[in-house]
Amino acid sequence: MNTGVATAIAYVNGAFMPVAEARVPVLDRGFLFADGVYEVIPAYGGKPFAIAEHLARLARSLKELQIANPHSEAEWTDLALKLMEQNGGGDCMIYFQITRGAPEKRSHGFPLNTKPTVVGLCNALPMPSEVALRDGVGCITRPDIRWGRCDIKSVALLANILASQAASEQACNEAILHRDGRVTEGASSNVFAVLGKTVVTPPKGPEILSGITRDLLLAALRAAKVTVQERRLTLNELRSADEIWLTSSTREVLPVTKLDGEGVGARKPGALWKKAYALFQERKAVSSRA
Ligand code: PDD
Repeated sequence: MNTGVATAIAYVNGAFMPVAEARVPVLDRGFLFADGVYEVIPAYGGKPFAIAEHLARLARSLKELQIANPHSEAEWTDLALKLMEQNGGGDCMIYFQITRGAPEKRSHGFPLNTKPTVVGLCNALPMPSEVALRDGVGCITRPDIRWGRCDIKSVALLANILASQAASEQACNEAILHRDGRVTEGASSNVFAVLGKTVVTPPKGPEILSGITRDLLLAALRAAKVTVQERRLTLNELRSADEIWLTSSTREVLPVTKLDGEGVGARKPGALWKKAYALFQERKAVSSRA
């Protein structure tokens, strides 16, 4: 069982090794320029969840950055299973990072023939705590200072990590980002607001990462005849929302009950969140039976 918090065995360019021995060259463009992409794939009971969707997003991120995809979907899946096996399986998150590789010298422009670097890690999945599900979590809001292609799951995450750190320092779970008066997403999650009986989430596009959890939840809500809208969500609407939720592969569907120190709605996880959470758990159960 994967009971530890950290990867024991890492994967680097074709080989498995103890994580302390895993290395990439200093000329790797991931190190020099954050020139690379990543994926986080959750697995429950040793079974990857929505892996096809995650690998499709990975392929898209690579394509957008003109990095050759080093593996087929079947090879990635096999690698994910081997990484889990090496690290004890259980509930875990598989991390893949692919960079443009290590050419002979540092220069901003990139040679087209560099072999990508592939790194794989596998950590225990940090599931939402019982207290977080019972009472909800707190969030702060922050201006979104990121670049214009947040749809690419790039490892260039400085703005995200500064926002996450600010949230942690205020004992909050997440920083909700906004630009020109509208909500974009969380520093490492997507954002949903309940306005009356309608569930609203910002639309797909270059300002947000198209979250796999977001997509699965939207489909489940629509199938259950809940009214959902993918549309511009203003910060003012968020501040007066009846409910706020965060979604991500590690948070699942998490209720937010405090925003910038103020109570959200009835200050406890709401009825629609309960429904959304149950629908998501049902979706997980279906996938584990498949
Ligand atoms: N983050 N938006 C951002 C900026 C994210 O980093 C993430 C996920 C999401 C949610 O995507 P998904 O539902 O596919 O996990 C949205 C991962 C978990 C991370 O960086 O660790």
